[in-house]
Amino acid sequence: MDKININGDVFVPLFTEEQIQKRVKELAAQISEDYKNRQPVFIGVLNGSFLFMSDLIRYVTIDCEIDFFKLSSYGDDKISSGKVRMLKELNCNVNGRDIIIVEDIVDSGLSIKYIEDLFAESGPNSIKVVALLMKPESLKFKVKIDYIGFNVPNRFVIGYGLDMAQKYRNLREIYVLKESGE
Ligand code: IMP
Ligand code: MG
Repeated sequence: MDKININGDVFVPLFTEEQIQKRVKELAAQISEDYKNRQPVFIGVLNGSFLFMSDLIRYVTIDCEIDFFKLSSYGDDKISSGKVRMLKELNCNVNGRDIIIVEDIVDSGLSIKYIEDLFAESGPNSIKVVALLMKPESLKFKVKIDYIGFNVPNRFVIGYGLDMAQKYRNLREIYVLKESGE
């Protein structure tokens, strides 16, 4: 893995493909154990969670369903706009179901808070959240993330589904923005 230079911003490797796959496997094993004899619906938050979701559910050993929905909170920038908009709604009925929200990364917690409040209105049996990454230092909203892949520093990350201005989602590894002077 090499560093990546994007218009003067330097990104350095944070997690290798092997580290990511190992951790996703562990999360899937834990979820399969916790939900045995149940059929949860994994609900992926587009676009960032699509790779994590596809790996996660292939490692899961219980019967499950999937759906996706889409929010917009970030513009094409590295800074949150602080607002959330719904861009694609769910197709499935979550009433009475055990739902597991699948997020790429929890930053301020605004998106997860919005999603949980929204789904709670539809009367699911339970709601849990799995996030591949979490930035504990930048959390501003009171949210409980039930399964966390890795905690990461409060710096911009790209790869494995995570974008910068819609690009770099196809990297197999995760890279973090290098701080000036580092
Ligand atoms: P939150 O609503 O502030 O928790 O932000 C969560 C959303 O912002 C995630 O679903 C990501 O799509 C995006 N996001 C937050 N931090 C990063 C990052 O470091 N890289 C890429 N996307 C990010
Ligand atoms: Mg996202």
